[in-house]
Amino acid sequence: MNGMLCLKFTLFLVVFCLLADNADSVWRRRRRRCRRVDCQWGQWSEWSECTKPCGFNGVNIRSRSVVRQSSCGGRACEGSNVENKQCKLRCQHGSLFNNKCKCKKGWSGECCDIDINECLNNQHNCSQICINTYGSFECKCKRGYFLSLANSTCLDIDECTSGLHNCTANSKCNNTEGSYQCGECKKGYTGNQEIGCKNIRVCSNDGLCPYDHSECKDVSTLQNGYRCVCKKGYAGNGTECGIDNDGDGISEEELTCCQKDTCPNFDNNRIENFTNFVPYFYKSNFLDAPIWKVDNNTVTQLRNSFPTVFLNDYVFNGVDLQLIISVNSSNEYKDNDYIGLVFGFINSTNYIAALWKREDQIYNGFAAYAGLHIKAIKASTWPVQVIPNLLWSTNSVEDQTETIWKDTRKVPWEYDVDYYFRLEYRPKYKKMSLTVERLKARP
Ligand SMILES: *[C@@H]1O[C@H](CO)[C@@H](O)[C@H](O)[C@H]1NC(C)=O
Ligand SMILES: *[C@@H]1O[C@H](CO)[C@@H](O)[C@H](O)[C@H]1NC(C)=O
Ligand SMILES: *[C@@H]1O[C@H](CO)[C@@H](O)[C@H](O)[C@H]1NC(C)=O
Ligand SMILES: *[C@@H]1O[C@H](CO)[C@@H](O)[C@H](O)[C@H]1NC(C)=O
Ligand SMILES: *[C@@H]1O[C@H](CO)[C@@H](O)[C@H](O)[C@H]1NC(C)=O
Ligand SMILES: *[C@@H]1O[C@H](CO)[C@@H](O)[C@H](O)[C@H]1NC(C)=O
Ligand SMILES: *[C@@H]1O[C@H](CO)[C@@H](O)[C@H](O)[C@H]1NC(C)=O
Ligand SMILES: *[C@@H]1O[C@H](CO)[C@@H](O)[C@H](O)[C@H]1NC(C)=O
Ligand SMILES: *[C@@H]1O[C@H](CO)[C@@H](O)[C@H](O)[C@H]1NC(C)=O
Repeated sequence: MNGMLCLKFTLFLVVFCLLADNADSVWRRRRRRCRRVDCQWGQWSEWSECTKPCGFNGVNIRSRSVVRQSSCGGRACEGSNVENKQCKLRCQHGSLFNNKCKCKKGWSGECCDIDINECLNNQHNCSQICINTYGSFECKCKRGYFLSLANSTCLDIDECTSGLHNCTANSKCNNTEGSYQCGECKKGYTGNQEIGCKNIRVCSNDGLCPYDHSECKDVSTLQNGYRCVCKKGYAGNGTECGIDNDGDGISEEELTCCQKDTCPNFDNNRIENFTNFVPYFYKSNFLDAPIWKVDNNTVTQLRNSFPTVFLNDYVFNGVDLQLIISVNSSNEYKDNDYIGLVFGFINSTNYIAALWKREDQIYNGFAAYAGLHIKAIKASTWPVQVIPNLLWSTNSVEDQTETIWKDTRKVPWEYDVDYYFRLEYRPKYKKMSLTVERLKARP
């Protein structure tokens, strides 16, 4: 813009000068004389920006132009129309020293404008993570650590004491280097990290078991941590409890929840010696009397005798019975007859028998078939002599026995195999269940 104006001005002056010359010549013609004019510079322009941002050989430039030419032998313009001067060095992140930039820490380059990456150059002292910044660097720490302000080392965060852990309440917390571990429940609590740690003493709260003869028991494995149980001397399901004098956990009182104890003065769970049992048998003209060997909880028959049942002298209305029966093939009296048990015994003409035959056999006109059968003996006739035959017959005998169930597959028993009989007999509830399990054969 300035240049343009200047040019117009110059043209105007030239025209003026020409006119002046003409006038001069007119004047000279008239006066025969001209006036001397010296050359004249215009004003200097402003200094330009430095040609380089920093460093050597950068200059500021300014210029000027002639505003009036000399004439009539006037003085010519002297000097240059352009002028340079060396720029001052500019140091972006540093200061000038002996005409050179001296950079601050973290910067380099002629103008101190190049960041030094301390993280790459091993110029950092971060113990874990180095992050480069303009002119410097920052230390950061891995998860589980924090930066010590004192010396920029990473120190372990103790999540356990600082509460940064997420271990379940009332459980142990173990701080480890960079992390932590949740442990077992604290003393007095039970459970685990998954289900939580519950106070073992839930029962310290009142009124959890407001039932007659019932009390609260802490059971940590249960969701609510407790269970109602019958007090000592009582039995039932915990909310309903009746007197249990023999302490077998079965109430002798009538309850809605539970079976009544069929043996009120006998611990039903007791393993009973067989010493109180008596052989009960039927005399026969054909066979010898049985020989029983009673040894603690084992009864062994030592002779192939006439039909015999071996009874104890307790009277059961209902019974849970478990026993193992096995036939030893090495025994010289071994036979293929019945094995099994009798229960619900009232007298010699009223009881139930579960009998298991090994082979089909006809004897005294009555047929015994292989397989297990269960019969009720309801003998109307006495004398006893006929009873063996009634016991023998697999099928019902009119007015004497009623076969309740028989194994139509006729599976025979085998020698040297332990058969595990489990009987549940509840006449009052019309329930009878017999399970026979084949345990492993003896070698
Ligand atoms: C690391 O460098 C910083 C800054 O230079 C210093 O304050 C600190 O003491 C240094 N730490 C170690 C462990 O050398
Ligand atoms: C850094 O300071 C902490 C205490 O703030 C100290 O335990 C640790 O030993 C120091 N580490 C170094 C490398 O000086
Ligand atoms: C705690 O947090 C970690 C990571 O989020 C998770 O894997 C773990 O299952 C959590 N533990 C508990 C007890 O909530
Ligand atoms: C805590 O963790 C450390 C490191 O894993 C281990 O050596 C120590 O046995 C743990 N302590 C407990 C009480 O679990
Ligand atoms: C116990 O039996 C009673 C009567 O059948 C029943 O109402 C109650 O819910 C039972 N309690 C439990 C804990 O099963
Ligand atoms: C079994 O009999 C033995 C010997 O007679 C006796 O010492 C023991 O107490 C009896 N056991 C039971 C449970 O009655
Ligand atoms: C019978 O029981 C008594 C006493 O408990 C024991 O010493 C003996 O070994 C047992 N006999 C058999 C054959 O188990
Ligand atoms: C079977 O009987 C034989 C001969 O009496 C005897 O040696 C053996 O121990 C008995 N086996 C069993 C399992 O009782
Ligand atoms: C056996 O018991 C039944 C039922 O109680 C009774 O009817 C019968 O007379 C009794 N028989 C003998 C021989 O005692």
